[in-house]
Amino acid sequence: MTRAVPAPWSLSDPPDGFFDDPFPFYRQLREEAPIATAPDGSILLSRHADLSAVYRDAAAFSSDKKVEFAPKYGDTPLFAHHTTSLVFNDDPYHARVRKRLVGALNPRALAVLAEALGPYCGTLLDRFADAGGGDAIENYAAAIPVRVIGDMLGVPEHDRGPLRGWSLAILGALEPQPSPERLALGNTAVGDFSAYLADLIEARHRAPGDPERDLLTRLIAGEGDAALTPAELIHNAIFLLNAGHETTSNLIGSALHILATRADVRRTLIADDAAVTDFVEEVLRFESPNQLGNRRALRGTQIAGVPVAAGTQITLVIGAANRDPAAFDDPETFDPCRTPNRHLAFGAGPHQCAGLTLARIEARIAIAAWLRRFPDFELARPARWQRRVRFRGLSALEIRPASPSNI
Ligand code: HEM
Repeated sequence: MTRAVPAPWSLSDPPDGFFDDPFPFYRQLREEAPIATAPDGSILLSRHADLSAVYRDAAAFSSDKKVEFAPKYGDTPLFAHHTTSLVFNDDPYHARVRKRLVGALNPRALAVLAEALGPYCGTLLDRFADAGGGDAIENYAAAIPVRVIGDMLGVPEHDRGPLRGWSLAILGALEPQPSPERLALGNTAVGDFSAYLADLIEARHRAPGDPERDLLTRLIAGEGDAALTPAELIHNAIFLLNAGHETTSNLIGSALHILATRADVRRTLIADDAAVTDFVEEVLRFESPNQLGNRRALRGTQIAGVPVAAGTQITLVIGAANRDPAAFDDPETFDPCRTPNRHLAFGAGPHQCAGLTLARIEARIAIAAWLRRFPDFELARPARWQRRVRFRGLSALEIRPASPSNI
């Protein structure tokens, strides 16, 4: 049976305290109305088993967002962008783009990106140390993914300035109720970013890069069924920046936040390099950078035995599923050594994050490098969480490295 979403639950008008700590609200939802009906007729799911089932059943639950986005965006660049991204499409288009992207993100290409990352983290950490600390989001967590994706797409260094702003503007427009200002910013960003990429792609056509190092060259190369049209290529390249930037910044930022307040966890990771792997998985579970997913029922079907009508919009509350006691022992406790850890931070099924290996590599390298340089550090002031429901991350994290005598 579905139940009405319990008060004060609302994603379009979140209750006080939600952004700082949404987890008590998620718990209430999971316990009181695990299959909840919102006033607009959509359904919210919060149990791990229900999300897993929906993610894996692409025949019954569609990712195609044209119906939902037409009234939200109208005939705008944002509509063209989001409805051409592979993540908001079903097969066969989704499978065609995904095959190409996954081929381009092959292990050799990831190794090349990873190689450059250690020295880059070192440079950022030198600056951070010279400044005596500062905002670790702006100066570390957000800089790393932009660098990696800039390298991946072969964007020249002097052109990278606007990338982060474009990405934030386009993703900001995905919030459940974007303001007219947010929509305007998002549309301008899609237009500017598309124009920039069209020139970059044109330049690659004239002078292809090294296919070992340059993802755009690999995406352009080759003919046949799998080849992408120029618009498909541009919108999916924009999507790669968006998908890989904000989420990974948030993962690294949340990891540093936990480390700043948990000396015991710092000591565990410093004593055993390999422990960083499990730690990163636990941050993904505990502070999932992507808190919500969406699907639409293609036909009349059931979720956990509850009938769901064709056309029903479904919100998958990843942040709630990742703290479901039916799936995780003591789920409200951050356990850096938790294994197994079958979190849904990267989704599941045919749309599961195509960049999950890259995200994990980035976070592991970034955290290990940070701890080598700053084994001891603390918050200079309380961290600030972003005011968004879809993405969870810190807008600022002021950190003060401990003086050498305390280390
Ligand atoms: C911590 C970092 C990341 C998180 C939490 C994350 C999360 C997700 C989630 C939840 C999905 C599934 C969406 C759905 O099924 O509706 C997804 C899809 C995707 N992600 Fe990530 N992601 C991260 C990093 C990255 C990176 C670094 C890249 C690549 C540069 C990337 C590329 C993609 C792509 C291409 C898809 C679409 C896959 C498809 O539709 O088949 N992601 N991501």
